[in-house]
Amino acid sequence: MSFPKKFYWGGSVSSFQTEGAWNEGGKGLSIYDVRPTNEAFSDWKVAIDFYHRYKEDIALMKEMGFNFYRFSICWSRIIPNGDDEVNEEGVAFYNRVIDELLENGIEPMITLVHFDMPYHLVKEYNGFASRKVVDLFERYARVCMERFGDRVKHWMTFNEQNLHGMDLKPSNAEVIPEGMDPNQFLFQVNHNVFIAHCKAVKALRELVPDAKICGMVAYGLNYPTSSDPRANMIAALANDFSNNFHIDVFTKGQYPPFMVNYLNKHGWMPIFEEGDEELLGYTVDYMAFSYYSSHAVKAMDYANRDIREVIQEAVVKNEYLDATEWGWEIDPEGIRRVARDIYYRTCKPVFVLENGMSHRETLNENMTVEDDYRIDYHREHIRNLERAIEEDGVECLGYVTWGPIDIPSSQCEIAKRYGFVFVDRTEKEIKELKRYKKKSFNWIAKVFKSNGEDLA
Ligand code: BG6
Repeated sequence: MSFPKKFYWGGSVSSFQTEGAWNEGGKGLSIYDVRPTNEAFSDWKVAIDFYHRYKEDIALMKEMGFNFYRFSICWSRIIPNGDDEVNEEGVAFYNRVIDELLENGIEPMITLVHFDMPYHLVKEYNGFASRKVVDLFERYARVCMERFGDRVKHWMTFNEQNLHGMDLKPSNAEVIPEGMDPNQFLFQVNHNVFIAHCKAVKALRELVPDAKICGMVAYGLNYPTSSDPRANMIAALANDFSNNFHIDVFTKGQYPPFMVNYLNKHGWMPIFEEGDEELLGYTVDYMAFSYYSSHAVKAMDYANRDIREVIQEAVVKNEYLDATEWGWEIDPEGIRRVARDIYYRTCKPVFVLENGMSHRETLNENMTVEDDYRIDYHREHIRNLERAIEEDGVECLGYVTWGPIDIPSSQCEIAKRYGFVFVDRTEKEIKELKRYKKKSFNWIAKVFKSNGEDLA
């Protein structure tokens, strides 16, 4: 027996990639409702219509042997504009979902923000650039904890906070004010998101003391391509900057020395308000991560250059690995490395909250998909996680897959499928959104129901 008795197996999603019903149930506009997507792809209005089909989907999860499901709450369903009254219809929807999960033996986990927020908060206050939004987030977190905390015992504040805070990517909404140093702005927003996270940790300790809360990073695993010491150093610096900065704040309650030095050296240290240092001391119970692939970095001169620029230029194809159509290199051993690195660094349990393989797929004449590649992908990742637990002594809480029932990708591309269940729609044609089991459906059910023993 390699996996602990109470090990979590299941799936993970976000609200905007599943729910649809973008203008129903008293929901306000979310930033995803107004953001243009690639013309060739879809928009977020329907997604896979989980809002109306949650019972059918939860029944499928039960069949797959899930004992855990992580979903995000759409902030603008609970507080439509972010600074107005609570929308009881939104609360009622999530109550129905939580109850349905529990009735089916599936433990729910709530993510409070998975890249989205009410559009009004961006228009009015420039999102997390404003401390007012930090306070409004705390209010939203408290409402969710008060309403759902009696049944939900696993919580996350921000999905992949190292992306949310460090990269003003399409997933974020803040606008850099004219004339302001973009880096100064970036690290201030990042800091404000840390404070928002910590305020929610503090609130959970008060409101639901028997619940657990985590920090989450999208783990960017960087390998040196050669024994050239420069490649090795770039990989180490990249790992510190991309992963360890956030991991250390979440688990040790303060900015790590390498980041303090970096920020001071560049003049980008954010403004700490009174009480911030104390708030950072609200650390997490465990560290969650998403892991899909690793990156290889080549040797190059990097002295006196910003590590973020260096990473952009240094990443090269890893000649030892195959990749998906979208260029994500498949590296099952990497998951063991990540689990070890985080556990040894923090001495806190780790939790794999996203892992999976995307593929372009269509139904065959038997109305299924022969997705052996996906079975291989998960088998090898589970085996390597098992090694981390058994051989390396890592304390790991669970293995949770991304997008177990097909959903549009983060860029709103439905063709980039991750699921064990095929959802029949294209980018532009919504059709009836019927669900069909892929070959991997029965395989993953067997794995989950045998607590990871039967990987054949
Ligand atoms: C994670 C995000 O980074 O990766 C998800 O939390 C996202 O929202 C997932 O969907 C997979 O990425 P993509 O771009 O293939 O959907």
